[in-house]
Amino acid sequence: MSIAATVQPLYPTGVADLNDLDLFMNGQPHEAFRNLREQAPVFWNPEADGPGYWVITKYEDIVQISKQPKLFSNAVGGHYISYDSMGITDPEAQTAFLAMLLAMDPPDHNVHRRLIAPAFNPSIVKQFEIGVRKKVRELLDAIAAKGECDFVTEVATPLPLWTLSELLGVPEEDRADVIQWSNEALALLDPDYFANPAAGQHVFVKMFDYGKKMMAMRRENPADDLLSVMANTKIDGVGLPQATLDGFFVLMVLAGNETTRNTIAGGLRALTEFPEQRRKLLADRSLIPNAVEEMLRYVSAIIYMRRTATADTEIRGQKIAKGDKVVMWYGGANFDADVFADPYQFDVTRANARDHLAFGIGQHFCIGSQVARMQIRVMYEEILNRFPDIHAKGTYRYLRSNHLSGLKSMPVAFTAEG
Ligand code: HEM
Repeated sequence: MSIAATVQPLYPTGVADLNDLDLFMNGQPHEAFRNLREQAPVFWNPEADGPGYWVITKYEDIVQISKQPKLFSNAVGGHYISYDSMGITDPEAQTAFLAMLLAMDPPDHNVHRRLIAPAFNPSIVKQFEIGVRKKVRELLDAIAAKGECDFVTEVATPLPLWTLSELLGVPEEDRADVIQWSNEALALLDPDYFANPAAGQHVFVKMFDYGKKMMAMRRENPADDLLSVMANTKIDGVGLPQATLDGFFVLMVLAGNETTRNTIAGGLRALTEFPEQRRKLLADRSLIPNAVEEMLRYVSAIIYMRRTATADTEIRGQKIAKGDKVVMWYGGANFDADVFADPYQFDVTRANARDHLAFGIGQHFCIGSQVARMQIRVMYEEILNRFPDIHAKGTYRYLRSNHLSGLKSMPVAFTAEG
């Protein structure tokens, strides 16, 4: 039996159960995370339908765990607390999630990561910037005369969708489907989307069928895109297994869309709630890259990632047993006062903003980080030029999820162009 299972769950003051998805419906549960960091930085959270897991909320602990991929594995059990916690019941989907890059350990992980790494190198990202700026300008043109819009659906969603589609090679006519799948696959437990998770499992079937169809086309006619790379890759003369290809497609669609969208949207929420920070940015645009880092920290779009201990070990003196789930809560660590002074203050001039863990760290550090940073930067360069007074009107609706901090809608207002 796991050592952990013998520990009596004793919630520190004010700490709610992190399995409770409703806790995340107003954004990060800051109070719960603060209490955990201060009173129980390595805390055993029981699960009603699982063995329970360790909750890690201190910055330094997450760094240490992430840098030991053999001791804290992704391949054993994947990166979600459990499939139930995400509402993923389709067996084919579970297999694909366990076959994706995020569920690999070295040396497999290094081999597979190298396959897609060239698509993310700095010169490619730089080339993309021209198209990204053009797309941002189109999006802003479309809202300019209105003076108000839903920032999430009209501005923050279409940009990463465009970028990701270009990178992968998804044609224009299929992009509406891709965003629909992306929205739904992470919202299986949100009643705004599905009455119950079973009703949503078809989304995975649709994604896999589409990925298969596209990759078959790229085998016939390879193009200069990531779908062609994956479709035509051979390791020791053999093509990649179907589950790995399915997993690749799902990972790219989810990781590339949702996270960037939510950081762009959450960034505007922060600029609305901290007007003096907006004034600083308007007075000195050279602060925008640092503001992007602060948005990444402040939003922490991916709230947690899981690892599994492959041997008995200790974290901060707490015994961790082989097989225990260890869950790293970036949404907590990015507000660790030992690293970020006055952490709840959104501060575009924060000297160490770039030290955030929003992209993780170590072996699985986000491969799309430069593409994401570039998109958020270009978005804010353009918005602040054109609609310097754009602000959220105060009704935020978040996804019912403890994994992804996702704004579903955010009405905004601004001075319309005449
Ligand atoms: C603001 C935007 C983004 C955030 C906050 C974000 C966050 C993350 C995090 C936390 C991880 C896992 C780190 C770990 O487990 O140690 C990750 C991995 C990953 N991300 Fe991102 N991401 C973003 C944008 C993107 C984009 C734009 C793409 C692709 C176009 C992308 C593709 C990936 C992939 C493929 C992985 C898996 C890497 C691996 O396992 O080696 N991400 N991301």
